[in-house]
Amino acid sequence: MSDIIIKVSRRNSETSFIQEYRLTYQPAKTVFWWLTKIKEEIDSSLAFECSCRSGLCGACGIKLNGHSVLACTTTLKLPQSSPNRTCTIEPLNGFPILRDLIIDWRSITDSLKIKSPWLSQQPNMLNTSIQSKEESAHIHSLAACMMCGICVSECPIISQGHFIEPFIFVKAYRLISDSRINNQQRQQILQNVQPYLAYCIQCGRCGNACPKGISPAAAITCLQQAVNSFQQS
Ligand code: SF4
Ligand code: SF4
Ligand code: FES
Repeated sequence: MSDIIIKVSRRNSETSFIQEYRLTYQPAKTVFWWLTKIKEEIDSSLAFECSCRSGLCGACGIKLNGHSVLACTTTLKLPQSSPNRTCTIEPLNGFPILRDLIIDWRSITDSLKIKSPWLSQQPNMLNTSIQSKEESAHIHSLAACMMCGICVSECPIISQGHFIEPFIFVKAYRLISDSRINNQQRQQILQNVQPYLAYCIQCGRCGNACPKGISPAAAITCLQQAVNSFQQS
């Protein structure tokens, strides 16, 4: 087996740098496996996040060779013929970095509180009407969003500072699709997200990278249609 060089972005409160680790390459191992191997056998100071290890919780988002992925479900593949058997692992884009590969979600949870009426509504916001199987399936497909932050990292507009995190649109669309809220509540949700809809350039990078197959871009289109129909009614 030949060697592989894994370049990892390191950062603490004082400095940031790229650290190289040389290991013996093994096929079919996940990025999480490699990070754990580095931490357990070479450098215990390396910091990264992981919880479920099975693509369910969204804790382990990183960038592998520039692409935002889940570390626990992404296999590190290197072409046998590659003369330069290296890869790069970095933290997700669009978040403050706490340390090494660990990002800080606090600014986004603050943003969710401001922009998401479902977090500030009264507990009796939903009535108990029964949903159809089709409606339930539609809502569940959107509710699969695990807030991994990968769509944020891939979005080219976030860094401009006037957009909001793509998954917020998924959550808003999930809620307005629910027949158990009334039109006043639906309108309030649309009013909250409407100022941001036009900034999306529909590049589709968010949906292409989403590990759950959710398309925030499609949610944005549906929200815009809902805004239009409210304005016409
Ligand atoms: S929409 Fe997809 S990529 Fe974005 S936070 Fe949700 S699960 Fe992650
Ligand atoms: S489609 Fe819109 S939300 Fe998705 S990555 Fe592109 S600009 Fe961002
Ligand atoms: S550790 Fe939960 S999704 Fe990777």
